[in-house]
Amino acid sequence: MRGRAASLRAGLGWKALAAVAVSGALAVSGCGGNSSDKGKNDKSKVEVFSWWTGPGEADGLNAMKADFEKKNPGTQFINAAIAGGSGTQAQAVLASRLQNRKPPDSFQGHAGAELLDYIKQGQIEPLDSFYDQNNLKSVYPQQLLDQISYQGHIYSVPVNIHRSNMLWYNPAILKDAGITDAPKSVAEFITDLKAVKSKTKKVPLALGAQWTADHLLESVLLGDLGTDGYNALWKPGADWGSAAVTKALTDYAEIIKYTTTEAASTDWQGAAKDVVDGKAAFNIMGDWAYGYFTGPSPNGLGKKDGTDFKYAPSPGTDGTYLWLSDSFTLPKGAPHREGALAWLKEASSKEGQDLFNPKKGSVPARKDADKALYTGYLEYAFAQWNNPSTKLAGSFWHGVNANKRWHNDIDTTVGLFLQNKDVAKLQSGLVSAAKNDAQ
Ligand code: GAL
Repeated sequence: MRGRAASLRAGLGWKALAAVAVSGALAVSGCGGNSSDKGKNDKSKVEVFSWWTGPGEADGLNAMKADFEKKNPGTQFINAAIAGGSGTQAQAVLASRLQNRKPPDSFQGHAGAELLDYIKQGQIEPLDSFYDQNNLKSVYPQQLLDQISYQGHIYSVPVNIHRSNMLWYNPAILKDAGITDAPKSVAEFITDLKAVKSKTKKVPLALGAQWTADHLLESVLLGDLGTDGYNALWKPGADWGSAAVTKALTDYAEIIKYTTTEAASTDWQGAAKDVVDGKAAFNIMGDWAYGYFTGPSPNGLGKKDGTDFKYAPSPGTDGTYLWLSDSFTLPKGAPHREGALAWLKEASSKEGQDLFNPKKGSVPARKDADKALYTGYLEYAFAQWNNPSTKLAGSFWHGVNANKRWHNDIDTTVGLFLQNKDVAKLQSGLVSAAKNDAQ
């Protein structure tokens, strides 16, 4: 983790510093004012809110839940997960529950700008004493603590680190298309997509619901602009109108031509499954796909890496971790606050994280995990994440670099693009989103 501070300033760390400078208005001590005493000591239940319902996502959560129940026999675990990859449905439900002051006891939020939204709206409690009581400050990398801190207070409990910029591919289809290795640049990727199309009857690139096109966009921007160029996009005043962005978006438009038509009914699992089922050559998806591919049935697909599928960093992004982190929060007014703290303890624990992450397809957020548990792709991910020379870039789609408004405005622009395929309109939409939403 050493030597990474500079590149992380593109994320919340940087924004938090700016926010500290310009806003004294949000006195953190005053933010706790709404929570009533009711429920403060209630440990009878805990309602945990996430979007980990589907194949591949639920297993990790269930593993942690089982450990939690063993350690907290008097606390009923209520799994309030709502389906929809990357939280597309869950986040809308959560927003209305928070608005109506009916929070769950703990909810999943991404480290970075997304968490900052909850903090600034006064919806979650600081967790400084929880961190002190459980000696947690030293077990997380400082750069991650920076992404969950605001005005000197810590606000969530990270459970993992995911990598967004991963290319999953079907080796047999690549062979049929005469492709000998994973593409190393966006240009090579486009050449390979063309080869799959002309030489095989398979789908070159599997895509699912609209958010998977947003997810693809961040990998293409990173691949074309490089780590510094990508990170610079998320700073106020960034030049989204540059020729370099036009080039990246033109490549994005070209890549989209080789995908299946966007289908809201197919979430990321459907698109990823097409690769291991031999229907599609490539898919760009976060490494939660690995948990899904290799996990045992009925949730997992029980596939073998190296034969059923292979992986590589998305084209042009080798050496950079386009990262995101799932973290759990303590909402203000949580009805079972003690239950929530017991859950946060589980999510922060070495045991909890080592049960969760091998199934989820992520590496632990803690620094002291049991390395031997991370095999196959996860051994590679573990080594990359912990290599001080790996560069970092924050995922905008999964909450690190863009606040919720910016995230939603980009999604709207991408949605329009998927209809009109107009690169100039896509770019001007992205320029406006950055102008209106960057903080
Ligand atoms: C991300 C989340 C991951 C995984 C993925 C697909 O936003 O951080 O844990 O759930 O969505 O649903």
